[in-house]
Amino acid sequence: MQLHRFASRDEMARALAARAAVVLEQALAQRGQALLALSGGSTPALYLPLLDKRVSGWDRIDVTLVDDRWVPADHADSNEGLIRRLLPRARLSGLVTAAADPAAGLDTVRRRLEALPHPWDLALLGMGADGHVASLFPGTGAPENPDPLCCAVAGAPLHPRISLSAAALASFRQRLLAVTGRDKLEILSRAEREDGLPVSLLLRDQGPLEVYWAE
Ligand code: 6PG
Repeated sequence: MQLHRFASRDEMARALAARAAVVLEQALAQRGQALLALSGGSTPALYLPLLDKRVSGWDRIDVTLVDDRWVPADHADSNEGLIRRLLPRARLSGLVTAAADPAAGLDTVRRRLEALPHPWDLALLGMGADGHVASLFPGTGAPENPDPLCCAVAGAPLHPRISLSAAALASFRQRLLAVTGRDKLEILSRAEREDGLPVSLLLRDQGPLEVYWAE
């Protein structure tokens, strides 16, 4: 894990957006296409407007989500709705289907994910104060779910959720994790010392991980 500390959230967002743009532009230069997966939460509103301006090839980038709450895209809690507002030019494949719950929609979600171009270039992640990433919440069984792609998550806050699995998160060519606040920095250093937190999986899975932190 590489940890980059910034004096302000604005600086953090600028650096993260600049790095994300480089990763995407490299993929576009090499393969003519790219795959970007995004998170919900509060930090995307800091860096996505900057990324929106920095990237020119949105028509060649497939965008999806690392997780969502099982609500329609026009619901206030929808990550898909959030990303559509923040990145209006993105060619976005959402995860939520018309099925009644994530377990019932799982096969469709899997087919959507399989249809996305590979390799998966970049995941932009956040971390909760309980150490969750995407919707891999501690105590739900989701972090341990062995599915190679995705899992239904029951028992998480607010709504039932759909999430990329730990194995899917491990498969990205690059992962940038936005973390704010001293308490979360402490969680991160705990995750470095011990197993058990969902974010520990990212620290141990051999995939690249760059952390962008500001108070
Ligand atoms: C969600 C997220 C979640 C988020 C973290 C961090 O839909 O809730 O995808 O994993 O990234 O809770 O959120 P912040 O961006 O607010 O730190």
